Amino acid sequence: MVVCLALLTGACAGPQSALDPAGEGAERIARLFWWMAAWAALIWVALVGLTVYLTRLRPGEHEDQAARWLIIGGGVVFPTVVLTALLGYGLGLLDDLLEPPTTPRLRVEIVGEEWWWRVRYLPEDGEPVVAANEVRLPVGEPVTFEVTAHGVIHSFWIPSLGGKIDMIPGRRNVLHLTPTRTGTFRGTCSEYCGMGHALMSFAAVVMPADEFDAWLVDERAEAAETSAEPARLGAELFLANGCGACHTVRGTSANGEIGPDLTHVGSRSTIGAGLLPMDREAFRRWIARPQEVKPGVLMPAYEALPDEDLDALAAYLASLR
Ligand code: CUA
Repeated sequence: MVVCLALLTGACAGPQSALDPAGEGAERIARLFWWMAAWAALIWVALVGLTVYLTRLRPGEHEDQAARWLIIGGGVVFPTVVLTALLGYGLGLLDDLLEPPTTPRLRVEIVGEEWWWRVRYLPEDGEPVVAANEVRLPVGEPVTFEVTAHGVIHSFWIPSLGGKIDMIPGRRNVLHLTPTRTGTFRGTCSEYCGMGHALMSFAAVVMPADEFDAWLVDERAEAAETSAEPARLGAELFLANGCGACHTVRGTSANGEIGPDLTHVGSRSTIGAGLLPMDREAFRRWIARPQEVKPGVLMPAYEALPDEDLDALAAYLASLR
């Protein structure tokens, strides 16, 4: 029993649990879940009790009248009332979830790619800020996500913060989330989209509002130049090997838009959309053999490069903070 409970509740906490809410939407959804779970448990106990009563305590024949009441009451009236009440409660919650906030301070556009996340912050005052594979949000403020996709359908979901929404090519869907506490949570793709489906996640970092504002200013800035070796050599190699055809590093001539923007890639918490830790070794592995980490990824392998070049490229990317 204890083991069963531990297994059951083991999924209730953590950075990707809808039952450990850190957002207004997730709180409502969790409340609905617990209401339904409580009712299901109550009905289960009543049914087991009735079965024990009828088979052990009072076996044998029962009056027709009592049987009829049991079937009409327990089989028709009770489920009709309970299910109607739960449906009404659920539909009421749905309305609340879809209600746009009166004062959205921040809009964030997310594009589902194969298999990563293109992120554009759209602050009211100023130019969009482009990032990838990590979403940062101010705590306590409503944020409007505008989601779409390239090529295939994905689904955008940060379970700790709220509900999920489909990302459909050619369509712009809207999701409102209001984080209620700071922390790093895990977002994920929740619709099967192809080979990389299970390999595209992202960190959702909820920060105090003033820290977020400062971070957005940094994120908007061009990439810092480095004179330290081997990162400086890496910057040259990055351009010489044509990385800039797919990736943008603002402040350099790399302005490709096929792959993730790398201007501040070193400040993110993961490499490869949630797959590898943010360190030089992981960068080396990703550049040399990305297919080994994420089968189906569009990034070509650079394992033919000499070791020193891979080291320099890894040092350069890690320095882009
Ligand atoms: Cu993207 Cu599943």
